[in-house]
Amino acid sequence: MHKWGADYNRPMKTKSPPKSTACSPLRTPSTLLGGISPEEFIRDYWQKKPLLVRGAVPGFGEALTKKDMLDLCSREDVESRFVTTAGGEWQLRNGPFPKRETKTWQTPWSVLVQSVNLVFPFGEDLIRRFDFIPYARLDDLMVSYATDGGGVGPHFDNYDVFLLQGSGTRRWRIGRQKDKTLVDGLPVRILKNFTPTYDWLLEPGDMLYLPPDWAHDGIAVGECMTWSIGFRAPPAQELADQFLTYLQESLCIDGIYSDPDLTPQTHPAEISGQMIDRVAEMLQKIQWKRQDVQHFLGSALTEPKPHVFFDHPETPLSAKKFSSLIAKEGVSLDARTQMLFCGGHFYLNGERIEVPSTLRAFARELADRRHVPTVTEAEASALIYGWYLDGFLNPGV
Ligand code: SIN
Ligand code: CO
Repeated sequence: MHKWGADYNRPMKTKSPPKSTACSPLRTPSTLLGGISPEEFIRDYWQKKPLLVRGAVPGFGEALTKKDMLDLCSREDVESRFVTTAGGEWQLRNGPFPKRETKTWQTPWSVLVQSVNLVFPFGEDLIRRFDFIPYARLDDLMVSYATDGGGVGPHFDNYDVFLLQGSGTRRWRIGRQKDKTLVDGLPVRILKNFTPTYDWLLEPGDMLYLPPDWAHDGIAVGECMTWSIGFRAPPAQELADQFLTYLQESLCIDGIYSDPDLTPQTHPAEISGQMIDRVAEMLQKIQWKRQDVQHFLGSALTEPKPHVFFDHPETPLSAKKFSSLIAKEGVSLDARTQMLFCGGHFYLNGERIEVPSTLRAFARELADRRHVPTVTEAEASALIYGWYLDGFLNPGV
């Protein structure tokens, strides 16, 4: 029996499944990947071709109900979208949606809720089952609910995505087409000429992995829910824009333009070659090293999304009490916290942080496993006490 199966049925009222104490062994075959190991999956499928897994998460079904989804859609702190083709036209609206409004929706419709992993512990536990892919690639867990015939239409995403079927059935048609032309003037991205080559019905617990360049269309057969574990593949232009913004913030170039050797010009309106050469030389001081790229990535990849806010502890423990508690109960990163590292450099929720060399093994364990069962060193406790006050982590595992 799959470890997670039973707990996914109504987990909001049940205890979350126990957390694993180690990262997934890369060579161990698992149901999640249809009996192949993560290593084989990465070698043969990741970014290469789709994989359909029947019974990937046996027993997976009704972790969330329609009511739960509509509750999430009504929240200010949760990003949600509503898509419908009722009335014969594609319509898209962004949440939150007051409950009374949802009662007026005409079928077929879908709601899509982002970052469910930040709201429910079982969502966080689910995405961590995919820890054979680096956290640096992970975006979030999106859950969609659709009425019969609902869907978001045929499209591409900039994502590697694991589409895990929750309750109900969804028909997925997919194809690897070169023609990426979209229908003009629609609020949703719909492919003009969708030519699917595979057609599958996914039942609860089935999962479909899709690389970014695959067109897909999922249509609900009866009401259904789909859980998408998304790994974002950022476009080069977006990376370049973000990096230039990052560089600009850290850039400091000395000097001012000077031309003591100026010669009179026949055309006062002409920009001289001499001026261009001089400015080109000044701009050559804009340089970056590999480590700038590293720090940029560390900060950008751990930056909380715009709607994410941390809750400070209401009655914070003193440093001493915190220290004695985590010595017994350990510590866990809050689901909203993003922590990555590269060598001896650590990045936490958008900031580069200093970690003394003696604490790096501890900090790496915290970043990898997202919890440490016991923290006995006073130095470690001192390092993370501020993070606790900021709401980035909590005592207990
Ligand atoms: C959905 O869950 O309705 C859509 C997911 C996707 O196509 O990426
Ligand atoms: Co998609």
